[in-house]
Amino acid sequence: MRIGIVGAGTMAEAIIKGLLGKELCGPDKLVASAPREERRTFLQYEYGIRTVQSNLEAVAGASTVILCVKPQTVPTVLKELKDVLQEGQVLVSVAAGVSMSTLEQGSAHHAIIRAMPNMPCLVGEGMTVWATNEGVTEPQIDETRAIFGALGRQMQVSNESFLNMATSISGCGPAYLFLLMEAMTDAGVQIGLPRYMAHELVVQTVLGAARLAQESDRHPAALKNEVTSPGGTAAQALYHLEKGGLRSTLAEAVLAAYHRAQSLGKAEGDPR
Ligand SMILES: NC(=O)c1ccc[n+]([C@@H]2O[C@H](COP(=O)([O-])OP(=O)(O)OC[C@H]3O[C@@H](n4cnc5c(N)ncnc54)[C@H](OP(=O)(O)O)[C@@H]3O)[C@@H](O)[C@H]2O)c1
Repeated sequence: MRIGIVGAGTMAEAIIKGLLGKELCGPDKLVASAPREERRTFLQYEYGIRTVQSNLEAVAGASTVILCVKPQTVPTVLKELKDVLQEGQVLVSVAAGVSMSTLEQGSAHHAIIRAMPNMPCLVGEGMTVWATNEGVTEPQIDETRAIFGALGRQMQVSNESFLNMATSISGCGPAYLFLLMEAMTDAGVQIGLPRYMAHELVVQTVLGAARLAQESDRHPAALKNEVTSPGGTAAQALYHLEKGGLRSTLAEAVLAAYHRAQSLGKAEGDPR
């Protein structure tokens, strides 16, 4: 396995750190390209991987090429990679909204995977949803499953349309939860908790609730009911959250993110 990463920003770093942390491969198997020297030096120093300015150099000899640039930069990079990718290489794009057909046409390559990972890949707790086109071979599917599996949980889907939906839930989800955590911490400070204490209470509560929801076979509503005694404190708080429209606001936010993912694809000349 040799992985070439094109565009070494935030998501690329999460993947690099996750892969090295889980020892799926050594730093000698990773090459990443980035336009800025400062960024290349940082990644080289921090993770011991090879970094290059040229995207073509990052791609050369890689079994898996991971495209980690912004959706708006994808067409420019695909022009560079057109007719460069070789038999045996698979192109994996993590760009939000950019469709399989755009990737196929832009790269003129036959083996393409479209994936939506998320930021917790940094700590091996990522969630990646991914789909392949028909040109991807079984060994390439196995390698991709191993890569995303090392970064957390992974889910292969047969229908590409799930990708924009995953973008609005798991791709953007960490941002929603960080906002919620910030708001809960501030609220704790408002009622008198020292900030360090409020922070630890919030982080461990979110972690614990997530693990409980994952390990229990019970619906989140049933778990919520167990925290809610009749006439009690949680019941009071939940009443105000519902009155404030938390549920419908969240539904609207997810819908807006989904529409944005769709429009990013269209902006790249995608006919959908
Ligand atoms: N961040 C997330 O949580 C997340 C989650 C899921 C998927 N994604 C997807 O991951 C992709 C990258 O997002 P990001 O948050 O990592 O963005 P980012 O931090 O801005 O990373 C993009 C990187 O690409 C580099 N770049 C710009 N032009 C380039 C070119 N022509 N060739 C090679 N590299 C180039 C940028 O360098 P400069 O900084 O020097 O411009 C930057 O290092 C996006 O498509 C996004 O949809 C992100």
